[in-house]
Formats: sequence, structure tokens, C-alpha cells
Amino acid sequence: MCGIVGVVGNPQATEILTNGLEKLEYRGYDSAGIFVADADHDYLVKSQGRIKDLESKITPEVQGTIGIGHTRWATHGEPSEENAHPHTSQSGRFVLVHNGVIENYDDLKHEYLANDTFYGETDSEIAVHLIEYFANQGLDTKEAFRKALTKIRGSYAFGLIDKNDRDTIYVAKNKSPLLIGLGDGFNVICSDALAMLQQTNIFVELNDGEMVIVTKDNVAIENAAGDSIKREPYEAKIDASDMEKGTYPYYMLKEIDEQPATMRRIISEYTDETGAVAVDQALLDSLLASDRIYIVACGTSYNAGLASKQIIEELANIPVEVHLSSEFGYNMPLLSAKPFFIYLTQSGETADSRQVLVKTNELGHPALTVTNVAGSTLSREATYTMLLHAGPEIAVASTKAYTAQIAALTVLSKAVGDAKDNAAAKDFDLVKELGIAANAMDVMISEKELLKQLAHDYFAGAEHAFYIGRGTDYYVSLEVSLKLKEISYIHAEGFAAGELKHGTIALVEEGTPVIGIISDDVTAPHTRGNLREVESRGAHTMVIASEDLSKPDDQIVVPVVHHFLRPLAAVIPGQLLAYYATLERGLDVDKPRNLAKSVTVE
Ligand code: M6R
Repeated sequence: MCGIVGVVGNPQATEILTNGLEKLEYRGYDSAGIFVADADHDYLVKSQGRIKDLESKITPEVQGTIGIGHTRWATHGEPSEENAHPHTSQSGRFVLVHNGVIENYDDLKHEYLANDTFYGETDSEIAVHLIEYFANQGLDTKEAFRKALTKIRGSYAFGLIDKNDRDTIYVAKNKSPLLIGLGDGFNVICSDALAMLQQTNIFVELNDGEMVIVTKDNVAIENAAGDSIKREPYEAKIDASDMEKGTYPYYMLKEIDEQPATMRRIISEYTDETGAVAVDQALLDSLLASDRIYIVACGTSYNAGLASKQIIEELANIPVEVHLSSEFGYNMPLLSAKPFFIYLTQSGETADSRQVLVKTNELGHPALTVTNVAGSTLSREATYTMLLHAGPEIAVASTKAYTAQIAALTVLSKAVGDAKDNAAAKDFDLVKELGIAANAMDVMISEKELLKQLAHDYFAGAEHAFYIGRGTDYYVSLEVSLKLKEISYIHAEGFAAGELKHGTIALVEEGTPVIGIISDDVTAPHTRGNLREVESRGAHTMVIASEDLSKPDDQIVVPVVHHFLRPLAAVIPGQLLAYYATLERGLDVDKPRNLAKSVTVE
């Protein structure tokens, strides 16, 4: 949700900012802007649309040694040039970029800024006017900024430049992510280390409530009271080449293809040379002491939690509840005596999940964050972290994080089950079964031509579509229907196959695509029966069946994998169907409308 970059002390400021914004475009892409200055000149360039639209407006003289930039996902005010960041104060002296939501912006406007003129409708513009308001009261920039922060309620990552001091970027953070990168003779700021990997791999993390004064050769962190804080930098272990699309037309296709390799990486990261599962002993002890696991997540991560429920319950023998973060925080159910929380989050930054983590931390419950991003907010704030090792996921539609989360939770469940001497765990050869699942994924990925044709045959003119299944197949249906709707804009729902006839079947018309996922021998005949019911009402049915349960007319046959791991193989055709349906509609697969990759507002 919005991306911020900044640089101080480098004559290539314009290039560093635009390169950084390109890398952050996954966070929001409805408008963008940069402010660049040197001792004598300054330039503000903003544009509605994508970073490439902004770049086309940047003329050669737009050069400087200091600057800030922003790519936006609109919260307050429509996507427009006026609402694009950076925003300037009333006199133009201060320039600001903001990621987050200022909840009391209207109150601040009326209390302090009644006579000011505003160009847009954003909460962020209020913030920069407020800083100038306090500067006009005689405070220096740092103290005016600090004073404004005491008045602002909400989430923010701010980057601020005072045109009267062109050697300093002022930074503050609360709930929204922000890092400082240490360059050679210059320093940078960014919402995500990925944005600045070409400049540095040494970063300093910030905590909520901190303010930082960044010059080309110094990074001074202060807490809200103004006390100086010492913090060691860390090295971001990310390969910049993982960020590249290479020969792929879209990141989503690359990331779908990377799933088998990710499975193999998870095996090697979490097992020793004997094949025994190796996870943190303290994490294991905490899980062994728990009487119930609460998985809390959003979107695809939530769907991965659902798909992992049976695995955890059978291998680890601990009951599991799976909850939506946005509901759980404000409607917390009665908890068990010894709850253990698992936060599933690809980005590690999702605000809905974080607000629950803050609450369960306050209650003193142990928490594990399973994430793809080392050092992310939820990773730092949970008791334990398990990394997905999936490499950066750039496409807004999550694919490899889903399968990596299921694999990581399988590893964890196996470790707990082994420690408890559970028969189900002892019988489950993790390395072998995950290897078989990776091979099955490879087989599905090699069926691209078939899936492209099916996407054309079934979705070309479709407005609605249903995926149905029972048990874990239902959970996979939820995920693949989310994929289809979020990128192709076809209205798609995942349904429990038996539930369709209790109401939703009324929506089935002549030609409505209904896709059945079948991987369980007990429920297979029932799901086939449900497909016949909709077929007799005109539905255009498709079957994705596990090879051992398939029939000659089934459109997609998935190699047999261990029953715990069926979602890993069954999800791939759904991901590829969504991809090709979207391509056929001529839409931007990686950047669907209205969405952003990392949802850092509640
Ligand atoms: O980073 P997270 O896993 O916490 O993100 C959760 C959701 O926002 C995310 O999965 C979203 O639903 C994706 N667009 C799905 O493809």
C-alpha cells in the first residue's frame, strides 16, 4: 500500500528514485511522483498512472542530490495528479511523502489549518501543512515534525524534506514499514529493501514511534521523547536478480513456475542430511505446550491456512482454528487455555494481521509468523519466525507463497508429530512426499498449452464462474476462485460442493463455468453428483481430478500425491487457468485494478 523511497547525498538521485519506485510498484500503482533538489534547484514531478507515466514526464534537467518519491494506492481521494505524492506545505517550504492513513486528518484540518489552501483531498497533504504550521510557531524542522507527530493519529511512514536544508531527510514511522539503507557516501530510505538493493544491502530497521534524521553520512534515530537510539544495521540476504522477470512476460507466470523449486528449497532448509526435520527447539516446545492453534491470516494466506488445517491436526494432533485477521481482531472468540497463534503472511506487513498480533502479544500468547520476508514487521514482532524461502513474490496475485506456506506448515506439523511420537507423523516421509508433490507440480506446469485452451473454452465470454469441492478440495476452490476473480475480473466463487444446491445454484445459467476439484475418494462421487446437478441446469462443467480418481472425460488430471499435500498439486491448474483467462482479456496480470501487493492499512 504505497511505496516510499528517498536518497540523500547522491548526484544520481532521480535515477535512484525512479528505479526504486519501479521495484515498489507492486505496492500501489495509481499515481506516482518525485521531488528532487540540489543546492540551487528543485523539481516536483507527479503523474496519474504507472511509474512509466511518471518517467515520461521527467525531463533531463530534473537532477539533484537529494529527493523523495512515492507510488500510490489511493485511500483518501481519487487517483489523480493532485492527490499524488509528494505533497507540499502551504508556502512550498516542506515536501512530504506518506504511506498509511491519518485517522484524525479532518480534525487537524479544522483545528490548525482552517485558512490553508489544499490542492487535493488526501490526509497526507494535511500532515505536511501541519508541520509547517508548527515551524511557523518558531520550532525548528525536527521539533515541528515531532510536534506534528504527537497530533497525528493513525499509521504512517513519512519522508520529509525542508527546502531550507537540502542535506537532510526526516523520517518517522508508525505501523507502516520503512527502512534506512546505508550507501557508500550516501543514504537511502525505502518501504521495502527490494527497492534499494542496487544501492546497498545494508539496512537499519525502525520501530514504531521512532523518528530519524538522515544525512549523507549519518543516520540519527530518536524515540518519541527525543532520546537517541543505537541500532546495528543488518545485511539483507536477497539476491537482486530474483527481482527480475527475465524472459517471462509476467511475474505471475514466473512465480507459478518457481513453485516446485520452492518446495525443494523448503525441504533443504528445514531438514538435515539424514532427512530429519529441523526446526527451532523453542518453537517446538511452545507448540508442544499448546492445546489449540489459531491461524490468523488474510486472502491467499488465509486460504493456505485452511488448506493446512487437516495436515496440522493429523500430524501434530493439535486442534486448529483458521480465522480472518480483519474479523478476529475485533471479534475475538473465546480462546483455549493454552493458545498458540500462527500468523500466515507472505509480506509480513499486512495491517489486518498485525493488529491481531499486537493484541495477542498484549495477552501474552506465543506467536509464530510464517512469512516470505525476513525482518518484516510481523516477523520482528512475533515470538518466532519461519521463513518461506520462496524468493520475492512480486505479482499481486499470490501463488508461490500459498504453496510455500502449506509446505512450511507441513514441516512444522511433522516436527511436532515426531516429537510427540504420533503414528501419523512417523508414517509420513516428509522429504519423499514433498518431493513427489514438487514433481506433480512440475507435471501440471508442463500442461500450459492445455490450460490455455481450457481457459479460452470456459472463460472467454464468462461473467461468473464457480469452483466446487469438498473438504480440502473446497479450500483449494476458495483459493483458485480468488485467483480468477482478482486478476480476470470474472466474478468467481469457491463453494462447498454440497452447499451449492442450498441456494447458490440459482445463479447457474446456460454456459456458466462450474469447475469441480476432486482428489478425495470418499467425497469424489458426491462432488461428481453435484457437477451433474449443475450440468442438467446448463452449466459448462470442468473436472480437475486426481489421477487415481479420474474418468476418461475429465479435462485436467493431477498426478497422485500424499493426501496431506493434495492442495499443492491441485492449485496449479487453477492458478494457470486464471493467468490465461486474464491474458485473453488483455488485462495486466501482475497489477490488477484496485489492488496492491502489500496491504498495510486496515
Ligand atoms: O502478505 P499477506 O500474505 O499477509 O497478504 C494477504 C493478502 O493480502 C494476499 O494474500 C492477497 O489476498 C493476494 N492478492 C491474493 O492473491
